[in-house]
Amino acid sequence: MAETSPRLIEHIGVLVEDLEAAIAQWESVLGYTFGPICRYRTDSWIDSSDPQPHAHDARIVFSQQGPPRIELMEVTGKGTHGPSQLGFHHFGIVQVEGADELRNQFIERGVGVDGASLDAEGRAILWFTDPAELNGIRLEFVGVEPQPAFTDSGVPLVFGADGEPIFD
Ligand SMILES: [Fe+2]
Repeated sequence: MAETSPRLIEHIGVLVEDLEAAIAQWESVLGYTFGPICRYRTDSWIDSSDPQPHAHDARIVFSQQGPPRIELMEVTGKGTHGPSQLGFHHFGIVQVEGADELRNQFIERGVGVDGASLDAEGRAILWFTDPAELNGIRLEFVGVEPQPAFTDSGVPLVFGADGEPIFD
């Protein structure tokens, strides 16, 4: 399977038990610093735990260094972000034009998809490949569409043209 243009890895996702503890560990070991803790919160998540849209609320934080940045995510649910998935989680590719169409192309090629965030029309705005498809490595494709992201206390984030959240 070949893509027509390279899709560069922008970040590396790591699933952790305790976000604050992981931040302290990564800052101590690598000297990285991390931005504000946010939440990816939606009622339209699908994954292996439930193929019907359901609630997903992941606390996440990105390193200020990179790319590749380090994305730390706190365990939640029983599917893509469940306890069985702790540790290395995904290579993240962001600002993907036509993310939903790309997912359909992968499915048509027989590439497994495990986990997606859907918009109101049921189109994927963020999705993962099944790690079994690529040597145990899960890929994440993040669309250009607005993502359901919030501050840790639940205030909706505002995004700039570069797709990055704007913090006061
Ligand atoms: Fe990610």
